[in-house]
This record gives sequence, structure tokens and C-alpha cells, in this order.
Amino acid sequence: MTKRIDPNTPAVVLPPALLELYKRPLPSTRSGALYNAFSYPTKISPEAIALYIATHTQPGATVMDTFAGSGTTGLAAKLCDKPTPEMLQMATSLGLSPVWGPRHAVLYELGCIGSFVAKVMCNAPSPELFEAEAATLVKEAYERLLPLLSVIDDQGQHGVLRHAIWSEVLTCKHCGHEHTFWDAAVEQSPLRLRPSDAEYACPGCGKAITTATSERAVETAHDELLAVPTTQRKRVLTRVYGQTGKRKWQRPVAQSDLDALDVIARFPLPASVPVAELKLGDLYRSGYHFGLSHLHHLYTRRNLICLATLFDLIERRDASVRDALRLLVLSYNQSHSTLMTRVVVKDGLSDFVLTGAQSGVLYVSGLPVEKNILAGVLRKVKPLRDSFALVAGSKSTVIVRNQSSTELKETSESVDYVFTDPPFADFIPYSEINQVNELWLGQRTDSKSEAIMSTAQGKSLDDYRDLMAAVFGEISRVLKPQGMSTVVFHAAKANVWSALQVAYRSAGLEVAATSVLDKLQASFKQVVSTVSVKGDPLLLLTKGKATAASAKQTSPALMNEIFEIAQAASDQSEREPTRLYARYVNRCLQAGASVELNADQFYSVVKEAIA
Ligand SMILES: C[S@@+](CC[C@H](N)C(=O)[O-])C[C@H]1O[C@@H](n2cnc3c(N)ncnc32)[C@H](O)[C@@H]1O
Repeated sequence: MTKRIDPNTPAVVLPPALLELYKRPLPSTRSGALYNAFSYPTKISPEAIALYIATHTQPGATVMDTFAGSGTTGLAAKLCDKPTPEMLQMATSLGLSPVWGPRHAVLYELGCIGSFVAKVMCNAPSPELFEAEAATLVKEAYERLLPLLSVIDDQGQHGVLRHAIWSEVLTCKHCGHEHTFWDAAVEQSPLRLRPSDAEYACPGCGKAITTATSERAVETAHDELLAVPTTQRKRVLTRVYGQTGKRKWQRPVAQSDLDALDVIARFPLPASVPVAELKLGDLYRSGYHFGLSHLHHLYTRRNLICLATLFDLIERRDASVRDALRLLVLSYNQSHSTLMTRVVVKDGLSDFVLTGAQSGVLYVSGLPVEKNILAGVLRKVKPLRDSFALVAGSKSTVIVRNQSSTELKETSESVDYVFTDPPFADFIPYSEINQVNELWLGQRTDSKSEAIMSTAQGKSLDDYRDLMAAVFGEISRVLKPQGMSTVVFHAAKANVWSALQVAYRSAGLEVAATSVLDKLQASFKQVVSTVSVKGDPLLLLTKGKATAASAKQTSPALMNEIFEIAQAASDQSEREPTRLYARYVNRCLQAGASVELNADQFYSVVKEAIA
């Protein structure tokens, strides 16, 4: 029997405050104004990061994030000088001793949209001026676009569009009859979507067919922006949801809606509509991405006009808030303005539940939704205003560098602490996803140094490892001798963990302690990825200080240790297979042993061990 070692036992002697910090999982909630201001894949709560910064460093320290995404580490630095009551309470309840006060943060982010968001959020405008200017922006847009958003209700009154459901059109493989995906797939009372392999009778010939095997109808039309004919999947307006006064209503499509589509077809396209190629790579699917060659193909004409009108009108607003207004519009765009917006069916509900685009993919459903963008943008004003107010007055400073962290500008041994959340190998191709927002700013990320594994970019696991090694090399160079780096990472494959391990070790960094970041509501990708790893392992790296004493321990021996600890644990969450895998990975990395099991292999062993 192996000697039981607490998986959190650090390899180096850490000060008591840090021991306490790494002793138990730190909750990272997916809520709050700052978290919700702008959705970005795998985002961490700034309040949680602030606890790490304020426990690791003293006021005046320089902290860095080399993979800053939407700038959460910058916001966390701001919060260090303006902690919220909830943060103070969390620190007390976790027995932590943070030292609050201003920090200086330097953020590196390769992506254009991430760094744009980070710059605006961390150097926020006056919340009051922003709120007033945003209200004027939406009011002016409504005045201009009312003919596009006005709908006639079931009593003949004028109302405003809330949203509309469109449907793809299927072609029967026997008789060629066209019918909507809605008619083929939607069942009422109770509401449900038929599985794609469920047979139904073709309304044309009566033969049994399925939605999975039916062709999608396409249509060719003159593309005004490209000045050529383009062929797209055919989509027809199917159900309209509106509001008259306070009364919300819905109904099937009426002649008035088709007349409105004619008005929209003649409505001039605003100057701000980008004409930009969509570069679909790792996320490209030959089915639902058919014909989507340019950004504007991702929108209904109505929503393209709404979005571009907002961008046109921003130019009239106070110069000091224009970027914040662009951020406001883009905070709604990716999730809610494109054809990737969806409805889902929930058990026991008689109507569809409105939702946004799936995070981390570019999926277009057979029933895309067209939301009222102006109403949605207006709803985002208050959360954004509140998030600006939360960091207003903080004396922390934040510099955002829109460049690769494979080369840092900072001088050697100048940084006290790094908190970072790198891309998880092939988990999310950020630059591909982010183009839906970046192209509206007239920008596109140069993905050459993007540290991901990607078939489309021709980057193997070795390439990913080398890019990560370059970044860790820079982290090691700029960290002060006693400086430390906290790295949040998530992978279900042993070889990805090995690549990470090789990368930081090649830079002379070793694991001094580990923990788990408890994402309290797992992201969509974490839930649906083939093998989920809920709760991200978190590594504390120091400059070459780890003891070699345990390096001879092997992965199976460490696994047995984890099982023993799990069996003794009173907290049920410490016995969950996903948590055990995080603990197993942590233990291997801390012992300098290689991670030999993928998450699915590990779960089979757990199943047997527990059975
Ligand atoms: C996991 S995300 C970080 C999310 C961030 N923690 C947040 O809260 O928004 C990783 C980020 O690393 C960026 N990235 C990838 N390669 C990079 C490189 N070489 N230099 C700088 N940033 C890079 C990606 O664009 C992505 O935004």
C-alpha cells in the first residue's frame, strides 16, 4: 500500500497564506455584472482571480496574464483595489488573507476582440454618460428602423417584433416536394422535436422519410454586397412573436409579415455593413455552413440592417463612449444576432425556450431565430453600466497588449505574479469563433502564433507544445526570482497534459501546488465534450524549485493514492469521477510523473474501483 499523501501538499514550502489558498477548490461563479458583461469562451470570474492576486501579491505589484482573453485578470486587478462585499465575505469564509489595494496589470491577448473588450472594460468610461448615450443610440435606431420591427398582432394592432423563428426547407428524396423543417420536426402537445431519424410521411407523396436523410433546399439570389449571385440554404419565416403595449403574443406567419419582408428587401443597407470573408476552418461543417462564405450571410437582412444601423449611429455619440457602445452592440452580437441563435425544447413547457448561439462552436440550427436586436442591446445597457461602475475609481492600472505572448516586452525579472488560462489545445479555435465580432470592427486576428492545436491551421500537438513552451519561457524570464504563476488548464487527454508539462518544464518551471477551480456552472463545451472534465485543474508554477523526491512515483501509484483519499473524503464532490481526474492530473504533475490516462480511461478504472 502506498503512503497516503494529501494531493495538495506543495512541493516547495509555501507561506501559510498561499497554503490556505491552494487547500481547497476556489469557486468561480458564472454570474455577476462583470462576468456577464461580455461572454467569452472559458471565461473565469474576475472575483475569483482577484482573490489569487490579492493573496499572492502586495499592493503595487505587477501582475500579468499571457492569455488574457476578454481581460478578466485586468478586471480582477481593478477589483483588488475595490473588492465587493461578496469578495470580502468569500475571503473570510475560505479563511484567506488577501491584501487589498491597487496592482499594476499587463495583459497579452493575441485576438483583436479579446483585447478590444479588455481595453474598454479595464479603462471604462463614465457609467452615467455611457448609459445616457446608449439610451439615445437605441432610441435613434428605433426611429430609423420602426418599419422593419413593427408587426401586426392577431387583433390587427401595431406591435413590435420580439423575435421570429425561421425554418430550413427540406426536399423529399422521392418526389422532390418541399416542406419546412418545422412541419417535419415540430410536434405540438406536448411540444417536442422529433429525432432526426424518426420517420414521417412526406406531405407530397406520402412515403416515409426522415429529416436526417432529406436534402436541404437551397436558393440562389443576387448578393447585393458581393454583386454576384450566391446560393444559400433556403430559410422561411415560420412563427412570429411580438408585443403590443404590455401584451406579449405569438402567431403563425401572416401576409403582413411577408409584406414586411418585401419592405426589408428594399430597405437600403447601411454604410457600416462589413463585406468580409468568413474563414471557417476547424469548425466548418459541410451541412449547416453551406453557402456561408461572408459575414453578412450569417444574418437575416433585417438583423444585418439593425446591427449596421447601430454601428452607423455610434459615430454620432460622444467620442469618449464610442468604443464602449461598440462593445455594447458586440456583447449582443455573437450570441444573439446571427442565424446561430436558437430555440430549445424543455420538458413540460408548451412553447420553445429562446436561447443564444452555442458557445465554442458555430452551429446553425434548422430553426434559426431572429431576435429583435434593438430590444436585446437595450437590455444589455444596465449590466454593462453596472460593470463599469464596479471598477470605476479603482487605482489599479491595466495595460492591454494586442500581441502574442511568445515575446513579452517586459524586462527580465520585473513581474511579481502571473495568472493565466491558456487555450486548452484543440478545445476552442478562438480566432475562428471571434471573427463574428472582429469583422464588425474591421479587424481579423493573425492566428500564426495562436497557441492551439488545429487541423485547419496545420498545428499539431507538438506545434501547440512549442508555442506554449515559448510563452512559458517568457513567463519564466519576466518573473522575479520569487515570482509565481497560477495556470488554469483543462484537458481530457493525457497527451495534452504531457505537452503542457513539457512546455513549462522546458522553461524551468515546476509545480509547487495544485488546486481546482470550481466552475459552478460548467460551460456548454465542458458539458457536451465527449468526455467532460468539470472543474479545471489549477497549477501553481515556480522557478525550478520543486523537489525531485517524488519524481519516481508512477501514475498508477498516484492514482491509488487519489482513490484512498476519495474513499476517506466526507465531501461528496471530492468523490465525483470528474473531480478525481483533476486530482489525479494534479498529483501526477506535482510529483513530476507523466499523466498516463485519458479522462475516459480514468473513469473506467474509477467505475471498477468503486463497483
Ligand atoms: C482560455 S482563453 C482566456 C480567457 C480569459 N481567461 C478570459 O477570462 O476571458 C485563452 C486566450 O489565449 C489567446 N491566445 C492564444 N494564443 C495566444 C498567444 N500566442 N499570445 C497571446 N494570447 C494568445 C486566445 O486568443 C484566447 O483569448
